[in-house]
Amino acid sequence: MTVNDVLTVHGGTPLHGRIRVRGAKNLVSKAMVAALLGDAPSRLYDVPRIRDVEVVRGLLELHGVRVSDGAEDGELVLDPANVASANSDEINVHAGSSRIPILLCGPLLHRLGHAFIPDLGGCHIGPRPIDFHIQALREFGAVVDKAADGMHLTAPNGLHGTKLELPYPSVGATEQVLLTAVMANGVTELRNAAVEPEIIDLICVLQKMGAIIKVHTDRVIEIQGVPRLGGYTHRPIPDRIEAASWAAAALATGGDIEVLGAEQVDMMTFLNVFRSVGGAYEVTDMRPPRNGSPGQEGKIRFWHPGGELKAVALETDVHPGFMTDWQQPLVVALTQARGLSIVHETVYEQRLGYTEALNSMGATIQVYRDCLGGTPCRFGRRDFKHSAVIAGPSKLHAADLVIPDLRAGFSHLIAALAAEGTSRVYGVDLINRGYEDFEAKLAALGAHAERA
Ligand code: EPZ
Repeated sequence: MTVNDVLTVHGGTPLHGRIRVRGAKNLVSKAMVAALLGDAPSRLYDVPRIRDVEVVRGLLELHGVRVSDGAEDGELVLDPANVASANSDEINVHAGSSRIPILLCGPLLHRLGHAFIPDLGGCHIGPRPIDFHIQALREFGAVVDKAADGMHLTAPNGLHGTKLELPYPSVGATEQVLLTAVMANGVTELRNAAVEPEIIDLICVLQKMGAIIKVHTDRVIEIQGVPRLGGYTHRPIPDRIEAASWAAAALATGGDIEVLGAEQVDMMTFLNVFRSVGGAYEVTDMRPPRNGSPGQEGKIRFWHPGGELKAVALETDVHPGFMTDWQQPLVVALTQARGLSIVHETVYEQRLGYTEALNSMGATIQVYRDCLGGTPCRFGRRDFKHSAVIAGPSKLHAADLVIPDLRAGFSHLIAALAAEGTSRVYGVDLINRGYEDFEAKLAALGAHAERA
């Protein structure tokens, strides 16, 4: 953390105005990796300027992919014509900075016959193991050697299609399987796959490249390997996590925010909860230009309609459930709801630590080891504090806060904006990992915040 990595936030002002979200971080970074599989350039639009994109760009460039900015703002051109091995010391510069490098395994094995993956980073929200990834890669025929500096992989007999069942519908492991199976020899059947919209969008990207992928019902995905893939041109789905974060900010500060680019279809579960809490929203669908009449950008306006917010019970889950990444920002708004709200976090075992900071600002949140949701989850018997009861409404007051991870970081920011008084939020640079230009957006919404 640098001296300048601090935001002074003068809270108590409702956020009002409009901001825009671009392509989903959790699709864009994977689509960039997919470009490595092609034998022709790929073009990706609406790429946000965030740190995770920079990390993946750096890793791809180290492996010989030429990445350049296209003519349109946010357009990236990725040319994999000269893919080559990278020096492991150079790769290790990216160690600890993101979870994405693990997804390079399959594509690098296909292109080069070997891969080196540094130690992973990403948010500290639990142990975040990679056992499903390694198990799947081994079943494709990869030889995986774990060493002190990272993971070395080879595929002496090539990669071949296989039948797999994930112990849990992991997003990353599903992407690992997709990125490996598309060019493996034969057919792969993946059971208990994750089917998040970002995964379906990655399947669209791969299909544009020439892949054959069938999404069956009941979380079954079938991939028929093909010998070569080309490039793609793709406009990603919008970032539904960022959109929900601003929605929560509108509710917690008693404001009114129009999120340009946000789409209803992938946010339906969030919208239901938002309405149940007492928030209001209005969806405007995107309309392409037609017969001389101009088109219209899609957007969702989120606002606090006045009156009291209502407590809710919610459980995070894999899609189509309530996303774990929506949880932290929304909990800040729940501190303002009358009654007892219950949050059962079933995706990550340690994603409630940030509630301590909210309590230091006057919130009343108790965390429990028990499963307080309708369904017992895999953490209930394992001693993890993964359920929270939020008693409200509580008047939040200013505090000094240290940002622990990306989404919790944004929730700290929302809390500081909603609180009376001046807070200092340390480690805000972490928010750049997933929120493009968040300081400019805050200013556009009338927030009073400045560096240091
Ligand atoms: C992706 O992480 C996202 N990250 C996360 O967003 C998101 O919270 C998560 O999916 C769930 O939606 C990216 O897309 C870069 P998982 P991922 O594999 O793929 C366990 C954000 O802030 N698991 O679906 O790493 C794991 O520990 C980030 O944008 C294993 O046990 O998540 C977790 O409990 C944070 N073994 C659960 O599965 C494995 O090998 C779900 O993780 C892999 C996962």
